[in-house]
Amino acid sequence: MLDARTITRRSFMRRVLGAGVGLLSLEFVGGTLAFLWPNITEGLGATFRVARLPDLLAADPDFARGYPHSFTAARSFLINVPAARALARGDVVQSPPPSATDLVALWRKCPHLGCMVPDLCESVKRFECRCHGSTFNILGEKLERGPAPRGMDRFAVLVERDGTVVIDTSQVLFGAPEGVVTFTDPHPSNVGCS
Ligand code: FES
Repeated sequence: MLDARTITRRSFMRRVLGAGVGLLSLEFVGGTLAFLWPNITEGLGATFRVARLPDLLAADPDFARGYPHSFTAARSFLINVPAARALARGDVVQSPPPSATDLVALWRKCPHLGCMVPDLCESVKRFECRCHGSTFNILGEKLERGPAPRGMDRFAVLVERDGTVVIDTSQVLFGAPEGVVTFTDPHPSNVGCS
């Protein structure tokens, strides 16, 4: 016959064993999650602090004049929208410093097959992908030429309290479909770089 103390010891051992297995399982699950969870501090998917806006405008006067600012780390063009519109229209650019809502970050990966979109084409102030000729206006919106199905994709842009411009590449915002444009420059829609 089993005495009460033997049963208690067995029960205790079972519990210790159960707790050990439970802890091991937790450790395994936790380790797996930690391994799988993205911890992105650089490369696409990260958040990039570009510069304080006044410093950026001073360091890149062309950006103040409407030209895209190429920010390589985020593979993006930062666009100063009011100044860019004026530049593409051929107006004298006298835009005040942009606010957060005036900034757009265009991903340089072409939405057709992923080639890198080159710098702005000087002659028509448009972007033209060299791979298959897809053409975009200065805001990255798709024009007639080329097979890309939509405008250049974008990333969210924020301006922090101290004026630092931040590009958040954690989410890709798809460009508008071909033909949907918010801005028309003076050139025919089917014209690319010359
Ligand atoms: S990859 Fe740009 S047009 Fe084909």
